This record gives sequence, structure tokens and C-alpha cells, in this order.
Amino acid sequence: LNNGLAQTPQMGWNSWNFFACEINETVIKETADALISTGLADLGYVYVNIDDCWHNLTRNSEGQLVADPKTFPSGIKALADYVHGKGLKLGIYSDAGVFTCQVRPGSLYYEEGDAELFASWEVDYLKYDNCYNLGISPRKRYPPMRDALNDTGRIIFYSLCEWGVEDPALWARGVGNSWRTTDDINDSWASMTTIADINDKWAAYAGPGGWNDPDMLEVGNGGMTFQEYRAHFSIWALMKAPLLVGCDVRNMTSDTYEIISNKEVIAVNQDPLGVQGRKVHVTGIDGCLQVWAGPLSVRRLVVALWNRCSKAATITATWDSLGLESSTSVSVRDLWQHKIIAENAVVSFGTQVDAHDCQMYIFTPEALNRSEI
Ligand code: DGJ
Repeated sequence: LNNGLAQTPQMGWNSWNFFACEINETVIKETADALISTGLADLGYVYVNIDDCWHNLTRNSEGQLVADPKTFPSGIKALADYVHGKGLKLGIYSDAGVFTCQVRPGSLYYEEGDAELFASWEVDYLKYDNCYNLGISPRKRYPPMRDALNDTGRIIFYSLCEWGVEDPALWARGVGNSWRTTDDINDSWASMTTIADINDKWAAYAGPGGWNDPDMLEVGNGGMTFQEYRAHFSIWALMKAPLLVGCDVRNMTSDTYEIISNKEVIAVNQDPLGVQGRKVHVTGIDGCLQVWAGPLSVRRLVVALWNRCSKAATITATWDSLGLESSTSVSVRDLWQHKIIAENAVVSFGTQVDAHDCQMYIFTPEALNRSEI
């Protein structure tokens, strides 16, 4: 969407994956505090996004949405003020149907008024869900909210959450700043890997202004191992996915923090070239030994070696699979070890990768080290 936002994928936090409906204004405020105190905000995680269940069950007598007076007694404007006071941005949630998925009032046919209300609260981001949609095509239901947001005069990030229905990558670039390509993620290896593969199919359609969204991060929620979460974060970053943390950042383990605060991996996600990396080569049983890669600015490449098999194995990226001349001399920087691990590599680079782990590198052609950087 050409509203000036999403030049790189959005970064922040969302309440759904950890809290579901158990949210209140204290949780949101404490999360904003934690984003600041942990340094995550300085790393780019600036959107504080409230998901479903912030609302009262009915609209007021003027037909406006109202925050649940028990859980959000101060209202959303006060929360926006609090979050803005910390230099962060506030996201809200609604639905392109008659109800949200948790059966709060939806915005279908209320687009103008609801957008004005969100703008009057100084909201910065809208996630727009797809439940209770009366069987109407998303291509008809999502543009009216885009227009309503635009008419408010406030620049609001517009996140389409229509679960990949009718292949939004093919039509949503002019509608939203990101579009979900899949059903909901859950906190499991099976879900995460399946979603990565679906999102990969749409790589050609991502770019500045509009990104494929394979759903929010589960890192830190307990259902995967450290290696699996590291793979999840690495591949989401490489795919130029939104980096929306979905754990309780007030109570993170050091392992969780180590993963989501990796500056070098975040820089891959936020690279100004904005090209979604993809799965470029597979070997092993059912293709479980995988090379994912993509171009970065200054003619560098990001390369991930992802072992989806059940045993440790060597994975090799050939220059051929990366589109490099075999004689090109490359320096290889390991983004998890934070050091250069090979200089003047030619033809291929391989290493042992643990089961379900993912190694991630930046490849810099050596000539560039001297003349261009
Ligand atoms: C479905 C969405 O895909 C989820 O991300 C979440 O917003 C829930 N609805 C909330 O009900």
C-alpha cells in the first residue's frame, strides 16, 4: 500500500499468541515498559499491538466501538498516550466481518466510523481479521477499510489478516501494508515449518510497501526447542516477514532474548533492498536438508542452512544454487556466532547443522570488501 509505511517489514509485539483474550491495559503498559527496559524497542520493535478481545461486547448508543470497561477502564486513547510517551506506536485490531473471531463487534459496514474512531484515539496500526465475513470475497471487504483509514488523514499501518484466502499476494499490494499468507501459526515445529513453506511460494510478491505475513513469532512461548526457535526467527527474518514478537516480554528467558535481539539477523530482515529470500536447494529425505537464500543490499547475500531432518547432517550451499560464479571469492559471516568464519571461499560452503537447527550467514563477494564497502 502506497501510504509511505512498511518500507521494511513491521517490527513490534502482539498480544494474541501468548495472552489470547486474557489482556488488559496493565499488560499492555507493562509490555511497553519491557520493550524499552530490555532494549528491544531500540532494536526496532516499536509497534505494541492489541489483538482481539479489547472491546465491549456491544457498540454504544452512537454505534461506536467501546473498550471493555473492566479490562481497559482508561480507554484506548489513554493507552495510546502512554505508549506514545515512550516513543512507541499503538496497534489495534478489528475484523472485516460482523463479529471478530472472539465475537466482539466487527467493522464490516462500519468502516468510516471505526476508522475515524481509531484515528481519534491516535492509533498507528490496524490488524484487520476475517471472521464472520458473510461469505463475501476479501477483495470486496478489505479495500473499504483502506479507504476509510486514508480518509482520516492519519497514516495508519494496515495489516490484512485474511489467512491467505484468494491468494492475497496476487492482489493486496494496493490494499494493505502486509497480508497473511496462511492460517494461524501455533507454537509447534510442524506448524512453523508448514507455514514457512506456504509463505515461500509468494516470495516474488513481497517488497517495500507490502509484505507477505506468515503470522507472528512464537519464539519464547515454550512449544519448541532453542534450535527450533532460532530456525523460526532466522527464516522469518530471511523471508522479510513482519517480526512481531508473540511471547510475554515481561518474563523472557535469556535464550528467548538472545534469539529475538540478534542485531545481525534483524538487519537482514530490515535490509533496504527488501527482497524476500527463498528456499533455493533441498537434499536429504523428503528434502529436509535445505538452503534458503536471498539478495541483500550492496550485492551481498543472506544464506541459511536449515536442517529439518531428525539427525545432525552436513548441508552445503553451492555457488551455483546461489546464482554466483563458481570462481567468486566470498567471505562468510556467521550471524549467530557473530564472526567471519571463512575468507576466500569458492564453489561451495558447507557445515554440520544440528537437527532442527539453522545456521545463518551473510556472504560478501571479496572484491566488494575492498572496493565497495
Ligand atoms: C484469527 C487471527 O488469524 C489471529 O491472528 C488472531 O487475531 C485471532 N483471529 C483472534 O481472534
